[in-house]
Amino acid sequence: MSSSQQKVEFFDENGLRTDGRRPDEIRPMKIKIGVLSRADGSCYLEWGANKILAAVYGPREAHPRRTQLPDRAVVRYRYNMQSFSVEERARPGPSRRSSEISKVSREAFEPVIFTEAYPKAAIDIYVEVLQADAGTRTAAINAASLALVDAGIPMRSIISACAVGKVDGQLVLDLNKPEDNYGDADLPIAMTEDGGITLMQMDGDLSPEEFTKALDMVTEGCRQVLAIQKQALAEKFGSFGKPEYATLRAEKISQDEPEDDIDDDAAADDEIREDVAGDIEIREDMSADVEIREDMSADDEIRDGMAGDDEIREDAAGDDEIREDMAADDADGVIDDDVEFTVISEGSGSDDEDGYDFDADSEVA
Ligand code: CDP
Repeated sequence: MSSSQQKVEFFDENGLRTDGRRPDEIRPMKIKIGVLSRADGSCYLEWGANKILAAVYGPREAHPRRTQLPDRAVVRYRYNMQSFSVEERARPGPSRRSSEISKVSREAFEPVIFTEAYPKAAIDIYVEVLQADAGTRTAAINAASLALVDAGIPMRSIISACAVGKVDGQLVLDLNKPEDNYGDADLPIAMTEDGGITLMQMDGDLSPEEFTKALDMVTEGCRQVLAIQKQALAEKFGSFGKPEYATLRAEKISQDEPEDDIDDDAAADDEIREDVAGDIEIREDMSADVEIREDMSADDEIRDGMAGDDEIREDAAGDDEIREDMAADDADGVIDDDVEFTVISEGSGSDDEDGYDFDADSEVA
């Protein structure tokens, strides 16, 4: 940000910005999730002329080992600007700027990722700026957020990011390049779905009143970004299973002409069948669980058998004569069939262990 003396016209006679937007309007955003087959999660995002590629790997064992944390996963974020992404070729490799952006972006995600679920693991987020046109850190965070979802990383919330700034004394949402270069303030923000701020930086000056208004504007900007992110997720993963989707469909069907109802119902049935097909896959997994449970019930039988053995053991305990015989046998060093009672007694202990193992297995399943 340079508060330049250079005179730049930021608004036309209709109050629209150099790219035709209203002050509170964000640039068009295009998103494609799952573009890299070798990453665990990925996303390609265009925001205005920004072009960003994000890839997520993990959770995977953190290397080098000294980077492992005993109680949670380490989150690593690398923001990299390609040399060809800017007007004047950028020097390849890390810079002070890219280190700073990587750090604050990592901190934007750490509070929402369930890192505690993956001790000693690493979650690696790589973002490549292929084309830059102001607002690359916020665009990269939006792409990284979806790549994390694509990788199946459990998160408390999606993160949505947007910047607000001031040009010609007026607040504007999602700065474009001239506004970023020659404006008076730039305030990039990242937030959770419920408005919790996980990144806030500021360049330039804003009065307290302007700052409050800027926060309201950027919150609205993040909401718009979130809506686009959710739409991209729905396109990639479908919206089945969402109750409101079913409700919307039901309302639509009831509003249609009676003749069309039949066709629509059939179409709706097809969709329901598709949803059910999804459920069947889940049920197949569940039936695998049932098999495990059947194994467990078989184990119950073994346990029952062992309980029966307890009776035998009680009999045996009650039978002083046999004990005496056994003691006599022991003394003689003679091993005979009576030794089986001792074996059963040990089996009782291992039965408990087996029971524990199955419980552990069933938790994993
Ligand atoms: O991109 P962002 O707004 O998050 O960060 P910035 O440091 O405020 O950079 C603003 C813009 O300046 C970038 O988006 C690029 O378009 C441009 N830039 C550049 O041309 N060359 C650089 N080495 C760094 C940034």
